[in-house]
Amino acid sequence: MSSTPLPRLTFAIISHPDAGKTTITEKLLLFGGAIQAAGLVKSKHGGRSTVSDFMEIERQRGVSISTSVMGFEFLNRKINLLDTPGHADFSEDTYRTLTAVDSALMVIDSVKGVEERTRKLCEICRMRRTPIITFLNKLDREGKDPFEVLDEVERELNLTVSPLSWPIGQGKEFKGVYDLTEEKIFLFDAHATTEDATILDATNLDSDSVKESIDEHLLRKLKDDLEMVRGVYPSITEESYLSGNVSPVLFGSALNNFGVRELLAALVRYAPSAGFFETEQRLIHPDEASFSGFIFKIHANLDPKHRDRIAFLRICSGVFEKNKIYTHPRSGKTYRTATPLAFMAQNREATDRAYPGDIIGLHDTGLFRIGDALTEGEVLDFKGIPAFSPQLFRRIINKDPLKSKQFNRALTELSEEGVIQVFTTYYTKERLIGAVGVLQFDVTQFRLTSEYGASCAFESVDFNIACWVSSQDKQAWDKFFGFYENKIALDSKDRYVFLAANRWLLERTIEEHPKITFSFTSEG
Ligand code: G4P
Repeated sequence: MSSTPLPRLTFAIISHPDAGKTTITEKLLLFGGAIQAAGLVKSKHGGRSTVSDFMEIERQRGVSISTSVMGFEFLNRKINLLDTPGHADFSEDTYRTLTAVDSALMVIDSVKGVEERTRKLCEICRMRRTPIITFLNKLDREGKDPFEVLDEVERELNLTVSPLSWPIGQGKEFKGVYDLTEEKIFLFDAHATTEDATILDATNLDSDSVKESIDEHLLRKLKDDLEMVRGVYPSITEESYLSGNVSPVLFGSALNNFGVRELLAALVRYAPSAGFFETEQRLIHPDEASFSGFIFKIHANLDPKHRDRIAFLRICSGVFEKNKIYTHPRSGKTYRTATPLAFMAQNREATDRAYPGDIIGLHDTGLFRIGDALTEGEVLDFKGIPAFSPQLFRRIINKDPLKSKQFNRALTELSEEGVIQVFTTYYTKERLIGAVGVLQFDVTQFRLTSEYGASCAFESVDFNIACWVSSQDKQAWDKFFGFYENKIALDSKDRYVFLAANRWLLERTIEEHPKITFSFTSEG
């Protein structure tokens, strides 16, 4: 018998590009003892290899467009950190990654405050009631007033905040943070290492040791700030945090190793271990004996030397064991693998067993689609793994008719991976590619050539918005369909999609056809 597994703490970092996600990821691994030196994860602008980026194109672009997983053990927890691409042109991977985590860490640049990408990702967490810990980064730079940033968080993200610490000064005057729970001051040192920071007892802010370390005007401001903080913000409770409505907030400077240890401690203290999952059939409890999990991401060709396709599976209940025969309910087929992959800090390695909260990589020969369940026989349909309405469309042309097989296979596989969405217009049978960001078209072109040996060209189309359509009323549907036949397409699962030139036209169509259901997401 194996010993009891460590509780899993599975979370993703959400942030706007440049807020410091890569730096924090690296520092969490460093402070967590998973890596020994800095500079391994972070290499957006140089030749160093990255831990979080798998694909060559990501290195070329200098942005993280795919999602990876980093696991490490810390303080009797197995921590699974899921990377989410932060670039504006990211694909739906980011959204879907948030379906596989139990909590999120939101990183905000204190100079810039709440930014657009954070807003979108936070919205998804709020929708899913994912608990969020907030880290205000870059306190070593002259930034916005902390009250102002927290006000933005509360107003724009509809999230109540509860500071666990408070900064003393900012930018050149940044002296450290006051820990509201422990009543201690952690002094800032721009050259800090992973060794302990200098900590002052601050139960009495008028003590000599405090006065010696903090300038008078900063101490005065700190006292005023603390009075306000204690008066304005609620204390965090486990319940309010787990409900996803109140976010504990910490301040620091990841680049300078400052505040990272406390952040890791807060994650261990607050972040939930593997939780429940909803399926169409029933609620899945992590402690159930029977194994279940779902695929939230598929990534082809992680290793360019081997043509392999990896499906990322989140384990929801039971134990996943290698060589055991599982059921794939969608197809009714069985699945067995001798080499499930675990994702460690910098590597993927073979594993024998994995537990609720873990992410494993399964070699796939085309069986899996995003949202698919894997079980010990039970038919389960996991909820809330949607496809999102794309905002950009291009007609894709096969430039090499001799390679149509490769071309078609590429489109199928890239759409199964969630890199793009592929639509076929109902009337003219043209292939349209739908994306959330422009970069996805470049990725498609690059991968079509480099991995499949096919080539393509894109043409612009008049559509800018799409939504899934259906109706219970046959007469209304026939009328709608007859009228808009040239604006209807089928998605990869043969569901009907209505294409419109702009939101105004779409809204008019919606008004004119009350018996048709228009949906901006499609589950499964
Ligand atoms: P991202 O993954 O969220 O896109 O951000 P990343 O960590 O790459 O950080 C973006 C930039 O912000 C980097 O600088 C990084 O060094 C800097 N940074 C991160 N944390 C802090 C901090 O606490 N204080 C300060 N002052 N800067 C911080 P860069 O110049 O764009 O990159 P590089 O040349 O340093 O690699």
